[in-house]
Amino acid sequence: MAPTIGVFDSGFGGLTVLRALLTRIPQAHYAFLGDTARLPYGSKSRRTIAKYAAESAQFLVNQQGAEYLVIACNTASALALDAIQEAVPVPVLGVIQPGAQAARAASRTGDVLVIATDATVQSHAYAAACQALGLRALEKACPLLVPLVEEGWTEDSPRHSVTEQVIGIYLDELLMDAAAAYLQPDTLVLGCTHYPLLRPLIESIVPVGMKVIDSAEATAAQAARLFDQENPGAGAPGPSHLGTRECANVHCFATDSVEKFERLGSRFLGCPTGKVELVDLGG
Ligand code: DGL
Repeated sequence: MAPTIGVFDSGFGGLTVLRALLTRIPQAHYAFLGDTARLPYGSKSRRTIAKYAAESAQFLVNQQGAEYLVIACNTASALALDAIQEAVPVPVLGVIQPGAQAARAASRTGDVLVIATDATVQSHAYAAACQALGLRALEKACPLLVPLVEEGWTEDSPRHSVTEQVIGIYLDELLMDAAAAYLQPDTLVLGCTHYPLLRPLIESIVPVGMKVIDSAEATAAQAARLFDQENPGAGAPGPSHLGTRECANVHCFATDSVEKFERLGSRFLGCPTGKVELVDLGG
């Protein structure tokens, strides 16, 4: 029987990770939980993030039968991976390590930039993961980007030029800080679930030749390797585009605003989310 992979995010941005997983492990069943009632995690304390993330992980494992967990949320991966691993008896994969490894593979200068939420940056989880791989990383919190993506202001159009301006300001500041620290960054890590939706805009703004790393892709690749090891022969290559067949294997849950999840979630997932079920995880 196809295994169930639980995918967790504070909201529906983590559907970008699920999209990448679906193209690599299309034969699995997926239970996705977006803790939309308690979003954003990116401005909360470690203690609160750990409590929320552990409860969410327990829902996916105990109530949905997940045999593997992918923590699509960068903030939860940065601050609560240990708490999640203690809370559930299944393999847990976060997004930080795969993101850092992808940056290691991409960077020639060994200097990388990371943009993420406040909490992720304050934890310095990316800097530590990069440093362990011999990279120097400079991190910057970009708290305005999540609300802009949540609002759907992701297009490169005159109507959404504010998004381009905001990205431009953050990246200018980060590049100035990098120059002041004598770094020569050639790689930018998108350290937040929401940022892959801004990738075309970000790529149009970064200096020519700078590589942009999407930790969603890197995480899905690592999950596929783990899955192949544990299910030899099961890892058939997936389709490059998602169809109704792959998306039928997805069951989404949210702790609030299921209508918004259904409406905007398809943008992150690349196909309709289907009916999203409301769940109550307590306060
Ligand atoms: N999912 C979060 C992350 O990847 C972004 C949204 C939030 O702050 O909860 O860091």
